[in-house]
Amino acid sequence: MNVILLGAPGAGKGTQAKRLEESRKLVQLSTGDMLRAAVASGSDLGRQAKGVMDAGQLMPDDLMVQMISERIDQPDCRTGFILDGFPRTTPQAKALDTMLSGKGLRLDAVIEMKVDEDILVDRITGRFSCIACGAGYHDKFQVPVKAGVCDGCGGTEFKRRADDTEETVRTRLEAYRGQTAPILPYYLEQGILKTVDGMAAIDEVTRQIEASLAP
Ligand code: AP5
Repeated sequence: MNVILLGAPGAGKGTQAKRLEESRKLVQLSTGDMLRAAVASGSDLGRQAKGVMDAGQLMPDDLMVQMISERIDQPDCRTGFILDGFPRTTPQAKALDTMLSGKGLRLDAVIEMKVDEDILVDRITGRFSCIACGAGYHDKFQVPVKAGVCDGCGGTEFKRRADDTEETVRTRLEAYRGQTAPILPYYLEQGILKTVDGMAAIDEVTRQIEASLAP
């Protein structure tokens, strides 16, 4: 099964993608995570990505399409994948269709995670993750069971993303509104768009996604 999670910054795509990885044995393909890995490696791509991401803007379509195409060719994606953060523009969505049909693959579902913008700044500026295992948390909505200790691996060091400032979040939301949300009608026409309530509690969102993927 190949699925897209589509939603504004902070809608919960990463949170739910991790759960789908577990429940459905799919591979999470997060273009944001891939770009952050490139930034950490200090590559040319990483240097370009750092400036673009810190400004809350989008990377060029051709680079992102190539990055995803190469990743989908890896053997672990054969059992299915969850696209998290891609596509983000209409050219990316169209290139994805062409790319998948060239590989003999198709999309099974596009899940829109619908949220009110006014809660997103809170969600994003409160987000942090475990440095050791990457598990995601939130100051208010998803705290570790024992304060300061990761539930998953017992790690005690956490980090926040450089682009999770209020100012950058507002630019990222504009990019979502102007460039990403217009993709939704494209998938509606294809008959594969499902919408879930991203404002619900995390477990309830998971339940709605699982229900929308049921045969
Ligand atoms: P990316 O990393 O994809 O960021 P994003 O789309 O802005 O999404 P986020 O990761 O911020 O949010 P999320 O929806 O995953 O929310 P999360 O689950 O963490 O992209 C970063 C940048 O890379 C872009 O700005 C761009 O520059 C570049 N880029 C990436 N892909 C690109 C592409 N295809 N083309 C061009 N450029 C690209 O949840 C947020 C917080 O809320 C967490 O703390 C979580 O615990 C909490 N939370 C989640 N769900 C709930 C809930 N239901 N109730 C309460 N709290 C919740």
